[in-house]
Amino acid sequence: MTTRTLITGGLVITAADETHADVLIEDGRIAALAAPGTQEWSASADRVLDATGKYVIPGGVDVHTHMELPFGGTFASDTFETGTKAAAWGGTTTIVDFAVQTKGQSLRAGLDAWYAKADGNCAIDYGFHMILSDVNDRTLKEMDLLVEEGLTSFKLFTAYPGVFFSDDGQILRAMQRASSNGGMIMMHAENGLAIDVLVEQALQRGETDPRYHGEVRKALLEAEATHRVIKLAQVAGAPVYVVHVSAQEAVAELARARDEGLPVFGETCPQYLFLSTDNLAEPDFEGAKYVCSTPLRPREHQAALWRGLRTNDLQVVSTDHCPFCFVGQKELGRGDFSKIPNGLPGVENRMDLLHQAVLDGHISRRRWIEIACATPARMFGLYGKKGTIAPGADADVVIYDPAAEQVMSAETHHMNVDYSAYEGKRVTGRVESVLSRGELVIDQREFVGRAGHGAYLARGTSQYLG
Ligand code: URP
Ligand code: ZN
Ligand code: ZN
Ligand code: ZN
Repeated sequence: MTTRTLITGGLVITAADETHADVLIEDGRIAALAAPGTQEWSASADRVLDATGKYVIPGGVDVHTHMELPFGGTFASDTFETGTKAAAWGGTTTIVDFAVQTKGQSLRAGLDAWYAKADGNCAIDYGFHMILSDVNDRTLKEMDLLVEEGLTSFKLFTAYPGVFFSDDGQILRAMQRASSNGGMIMMHAENGLAIDVLVEQALQRGETDPRYHGEVRKALLEAEATHRVIKLAQVAGAPVYVVHVSAQEAVAELARARDEGLPVFGETCPQYLFLSTDNLAEPDFEGAKYVCSTPLRPREHQAALWRGLRTNDLQVVSTDHCPFCFVGQKELGRGDFSKIPNGLPGVENRMDLLHQAVLDGHISRRRWIEIACATPARMFGLYGKKGTIAPGADADVVIYDPAAEQVMSAETHHMNVDYSAYEGKRVTGRVESVLSRGELVIDQREFVGRAGHGAYLARGTSQYLG
């Protein structure tokens, strides 16, 4: 039996258009859009959702999360269940999380471990990228198999020596492989070997507070690594996607490469757009709440990030959601900033913060949807199914109230973490209802979804536009 849901009266916003339209959903997919008030539809619908005065937007696609990530002797505090529920509360209906290859083990073993963590626990759909910690002949062959199965993107690191770090030869080999199998290489670009020297020197000088995390992880060392991975990708004839870009000097490297016509892409995150080294310098160890890598930068860098998002030198805003509680987790680094687990919570906040950026004049409404829904879907082989509202697409739809006011706070958020990086921040705009494949997950500010509704997404290869 066909189930039909009709969303009436809203302003439908996609990356391409803004139109007042009714949206018809049949069996979990968008069936059609039509002029508001189309009579024969409302008569035959099983359920009508009134979106008058609201936006009707595609569910957010967050292509950078770390649920339950093991890091620095502890684990990111959101499970796939708590993290995907929080994502839904924030208007995100797809995440792509990072499965981790443990050094010395196969990609398959890492992937199986991540399937086990996520399976049956997610409230929204999810896919995986694979972190390559160990590039060798065997793992390069495994890459081909994973691409065929729909795991089509791989993250490598020039940072974290001894943990996730790959040397330039390993990065080049992975890029060459991606160039032949259609995979996308994602790069964490910071010169980790140089940073480790600066960390050691800072600690010897007694510089142990969280703010030194930002000082040793220099913008120049982000720019250098960004430049290097772009050149390695050029040599390999492969596209490259640089994750969590924070330094204006790194944006300049991406812009220059793109001006040369290279398939080079960049992602930034809300924390780099809204927070700064001022937060890292908060007294009484509060700065630890803002320790992530790449680090927060001085406020001056924000203008370059917003400009990059407008000029398309940066294409995606994801969260790099990697929460650690202040009590008991961030506190592991009291007296030594290098022991603070790296990462910030944010999966619930992204759509709202970017809507505020629309109101603040940084980006247009359609660009909001483009950088948060459409392009991330396209970049990682999900477009058509995710990231837009068009016939045939999955009915992942958010009814968004652009006028509702909210104050972000750990008291009211749904992420499993004891602080908010945006505590007390006032924003205008709030999710009202969320559908995932036609099923209500949030119904007028009430969670009605369930762990286990979310399905694993086998993805195609990247559908990037130059
Ligand atoms: O600080 C961060 N970003 N933690 C998560 C791991 C990573 O490098 O993305
Ligand atoms: Zn209007
Ligand atoms: Zn990273
Ligand atoms: Zn990350």
